[in-house]
Amino acid sequence: MDYKIYIAEKLKIEGIESKDIASFIEVPPTTDMGDYALPCFKLAKVMRKSPIMIANELAQNFETDSVIAEVNAVNGYLNFKVNRKGFVESTLNSILSQGENYGKSNIGSGKTVCIDFSSINIAKPFHIGHLSTTVIGSALCKIFRFLGYNVVGINHLGDYGTQFGKLIVAFKKWSSLEAVEKGRLEELTRIYVKFHDEAQIHPELDDEARRYFKLIEDGDKESNELFNLFKKITLEEVDKIYKLLNVSFDSYAGESFYNDKMAPVVEELKQKNLLKTSEGASIVDLEEYGMPPCLILKSDGSSLYATRDIAAAVYRKNTYDFDKCLYVVAYQQNLHFKQFFKVLDLMGKTWAKDMVHVAYGMVSLEDGAMSTRKGKVVLLKDVIDKTIEKALSVIEEKNPTLPNKEQTAKAVGTGAVIFGALVNNKIKDIVFSYDRVLSFEGETCPYVQYTVARCNSVLNKFGAPNKFTANDMTDDEYLVVSELSRFGEVVKSSAEKYEPSLITRYALDLATAFNKFYISSKIGVEDENLKSFRLAITKSVKTTLTSALSLLGIDVVEQM
Ligand code: ARG
Repeated sequence: MDYKIYIAEKLKIEGIESKDIASFIEVPPTTDMGDYALPCFKLAKVMRKSPIMIANELAQNFETDSVIAEVNAVNGYLNFKVNRKGFVESTLNSILSQGENYGKSNIGSGKTVCIDFSSINIAKPFHIGHLSTTVIGSALCKIFRFLGYNVVGINHLGDYGTQFGKLIVAFKKWSSLEAVEKGRLEELTRIYVKFHDEAQIHPELDDEARRYFKLIEDGDKESNELFNLFKKITLEEVDKIYKLLNVSFDSYAGESFYNDKMAPVVEELKQKNLLKTSEGASIVDLEEYGMPPCLILKSDGSSLYATRDIAAAVYRKNTYDFDKCLYVVAYQQNLHFKQFFKVLDLMGKTWAKDMVHVAYGMVSLEDGAMSTRKGKVVLLKDVIDKTIEKALSVIEEKNPTLPNKEQTAKAVGTGAVIFGALVNNKIKDIVFSYDRVLSFEGETCPYVQYTVARCNSVLNKFGAPNKFTANDMTDDEYLVVSELSRFGEVVKSSAEKYEPSLITRYALDLATAFNKFYISSKIGVEDENLKSFRLAITKSVKTTLTSALSLLGIDVVEQM
């Protein structure tokens, strides 16, 4: 039950929508005055009265019921006390009976969302810059699925372009099948960097690379075999990281997949009189919309990043008939998305309005910003490995007798990396710090995982809750349940705003409320009813925190 919405709908104020009233309602810092408060100065403009008069009037006309037990007007605020007993019992009982289904909904049933995320580049290192798109995209997939949507997770591979011609040249000159099998992505990066160094002295290498790229496009057997090998190696390497992060995809249709799907799009652009020639290239003029032109074909007739994205969008609409198509891509590409969304709109695709660029900020490391210069990048794998290693040494130090140390360190380490990337609003730039993400204090994953482990140890010690009634409860008890009751709404708004950080923050708030309760309330009490009530709170917190973390791709640990 969402109290804010319940109260707002009961109030029914003319000229203001219920959902706006609900958004004005606050949870006061202390519960002395009430559990919810409506600051009436927010209504003064529409109601044309003083906040004090409004509060008095609304209080007089409000009929209390089984949900809202008391209403008072105090200094222009309307304060509500809820019927805590009924609310607390029904919330806990529904969590206990629904288990991992608690918070799920079917608002998305019959609707499809395509989510383009991670979208790595073949034969390039998988670096810390890919962390956000990977974990935000993966969390959004899980969140939308939780809400009943049909989700298509797409890795739009960067597997098209002259760089693959360069790689083939470099491979033939300076590498071998054995060396590539052994050195994997590092070997591919090594020869790619070498190509660039050599090409500065021998520019004819570039011509050769272009020839090889053409051969790939024309279906030449040997060139395609090599290209597919590079692709296979990249995907195998990256897949290890995806596994660690609990990330999966439904489609790996990358840029080259659209090779034969661009001509019809270019034709359509022509027919609709949208193509212009400028310096030999074909463009869509977007000046009228305050943007530079969108390049469709280069003067040599070859396609561009945007051409492939337009073809991909059309393909996705035809194949999946999506209700929304999301692109989880850094804000550096803002213009690219605005441009090609506009082109689709100009082509008369009414669904262009359903395309969303989910932009996010940059990640850098605390010790020295990451350098994108020639091969000197911070590999995501190294960051995860180092975090797991550090987690292990913390465990060795604090809890050396813990069983499954390695496995726990893995869950804690990867969880810390994911949580660290999802803890703030996604558009903010992130400075990654090993010590901060692994700290047990503050806004961290270990803090939340530790809370789950604490719930476990309570439940192991005192057993599962029996039937209970919630009699005179303390504020601490009530506040945990009040947090628990918000879960479903939080998941919904995180989907609406494409913002997994709302779930991260929620997990922190719930963990904090639980720990406060845990410190103030003894659980192993004589009174069987009270004990069961407190165990019911504990079990519900464990269930809800586990669900929240799993929506982010994070595993919990039994013990910590
Ligand atoms: N591979 C691209 C890059 O690394 C990201 C692709 C994003 N998706 C898309 N449909 N454009 O910049």
